[in-house]
Amino acid sequence: MVRSEEVAAEIASFPTWDYEFDLAGHRTPIAPEVSRRQRERERYIFDPIRRILGESLKGKRVLDLGCNAGYWSLRALALGCDFVLGIDGRQMHVDQANFVFEVKGIDPSRYEFAVEDVFAADLTAAGPFDLVLCLGLLYQVSDPTILIEKISQVNTELLVIDTNLSLMPGRFLALRREQAGSPLTAPREQQVLCPTRQAVISLAESSGYSVATLTPSFRSYEASYDYEEGRRRAFICARDPRALDLIADQTEAVTAPRVALTAARAAFQSGLRRLTRSTRPGT
Ligand SMILES: C[S@@+](CC[C@H](N)C(=O)[O-])C[C@H]1O[C@@H](n2cnc3c(N)ncnc32)[C@H](O)[C@@H]1O
Repeated sequence: MVRSEEVAAEIASFPTWDYEFDLAGHRTPIAPEVSRRQRERERYIFDPIRRILGESLKGKRVLDLGCNAGYWSLRALALGCDFVLGIDGRQMHVDQANFVFEVKGIDPSRYEFAVEDVFAADLTAAGPFDLVLCLGLLYQVSDPTILIEKISQVNTELLVIDTNLSLMPGRFLALRREQAGSPLTAPREQQVLCPTRQAVISLAESSGYSVATLTPSFRSYEASYDYEEGRRRAFICARDPRALDLIADQTEAVTAPRVALTAARAAFQSGLRRLTRSTRPGT
């Protein structure tokens, strides 16, 4: 049990936080618009999960890749999952996650956080997992094809991918140099491949999933322009195609002309915004 004054000191000991947590009455320091973004993402991503898997995740094992401070792992546990394994390449994030879960008084037998590169982690030894969360990660890795295939080997029911997208029309992986300066990026500088929407669908389908793209309906797009402009989407990848019928009203079909239109509009809007402001969170 961590004492209240120790909680405040421990929160302050971390150089940055990416999520708002209430820890024994002490809030982690986050800009209000970033906190709103995470709440909107939570609704966007977890509503469909609940509609498919049921209001309770009781009996489920969850894998949270690129778990950061455990925000999404905590949501999965709050929905009643039996166990969550969170993996992140940064020690600081795993320390934050362990601290958050300790202060929240979560039974240690229900979770584990590990500092590992997702490509090096032995997921088979830890699996299988009913639900895998691959949120804010796919566009930061050197090979999304290997990652999705690796996930598929241990995932029995549902994979949720939330990712930045390249807006090129067609199935492409756009090469980009990832800088490792921010705690939200890949832990080391490297070449990464950012997928187009069609590439995500195609990769997941070839690993045995049926895939649907979720339509964002955020109450506010402040700090979430990437979702508004189609530069970011979440994908529900289901082992059983019938699962997608349950969320048909929350998914979008995208035609080639619409992709081109989205790309043109996004370029115009972000150019406009660059003229006025510059902040844009990256989770
Ligand atoms: C943009 S943040 C996303 C955090 C969270 N999943 C979310 O969507 O809100 C990416 C996280 O993945 C971690 N990460 C990036 N590349 C990784 C890798 N190859 N192996 C393990 N963790 C990685 C980063 O340290 C960071 O915490």
